[in-house]
Amino acid sequence: MSIEIINFKNDFLDDIRAINVAVSSNPNKPYEEKVLCQHLYIDYYTEFSKENCFVARDTETGEIVGYIISEIDYQRYRNHMLTYYIPQAKAIRKEFEQVIKNEVEVYAPFNLQYDAHLHMDVKPGHQHKGIGTMLIQHLLTHLRKIDCKGIMLLVSKRNEKANNFYEKNGIKIIGENECYIRGKIL
Ligand SMILES: CC(C)(COP(=O)(O)OP(=O)(O)OC[C@H]1O[C@@H](n2cnc3c(N)ncnc32)[C@H](O)[C@@H]1OP(=O)(O)O)[C@@H](O)C(=O)NCCC(=O)NCCS
Repeated sequence: MSIEIINFKNDFLDDIRAINVAVSSNPNKPYEEKVLCQHLYIDYYTEFSKENCFVARDTETGEIVGYIISEIDYQRYRNHMLTYYIPQAKAIRKEFEQVIKNEVEVYAPFNLQYDAHLHMDVKPGHQHKGIGTMLIQHLLTHLRKIDCKGIMLLVSKRNEKANNFYEKNGIKIIGENECYIRGKIL
């Protein structure tokens, strides 16, 4: 299998959403929670920060087998989340307001050093074959070119393979709450 990393296009949005659902620790979660996850982890980035989003594509079949999406401007992310996404999420379920607020505020103490943050997933069946490494190295090169200072992310403490993966790529623990906050200076 030969993989290429290419820029995100709107045509890939459904593939990305499907991968996001497929890797979920609870794929049977209620529909409204899936919508919330997509707001938080996909839609914002592919709408407002497209140029910092990439997919991994099988060059033979055209299948999208992974994605990495990022935002380079924390304040823009925060403003949009609080003013645009929270009202939508709240309309789905009241408690979602706090879920989003918590997620957004976790990054705040780190954003001066780590201005960018990311989310990524590789499709089940294609994991542990080097695709995640290709995606993250591509993003790091891109972020250095545009003079980002650092990259950060949140990962569950229980997600051993992701923690191994980030450690191997030099993305170290910089803070913790119920998750690890990991970062790398670029
Ligand atoms: C975490 C993830 C993005 C890594 O991408 P990947 O393509 O599977 O990773 P790679 O093949 O590039 O692996 C690089 C390293 O990651 C770690 N890793 C990857 N898969 C692993 C597994 N199943 N078990 C343990 N470590 C693993 C290893 O350290 C590996 O190095 P090695 O090949 O020398 O063992 C991918 O596995 C994934 O999407 N997982 C499910 C969703 C997820 O956890 N997303 C991240 C949320 S923060």
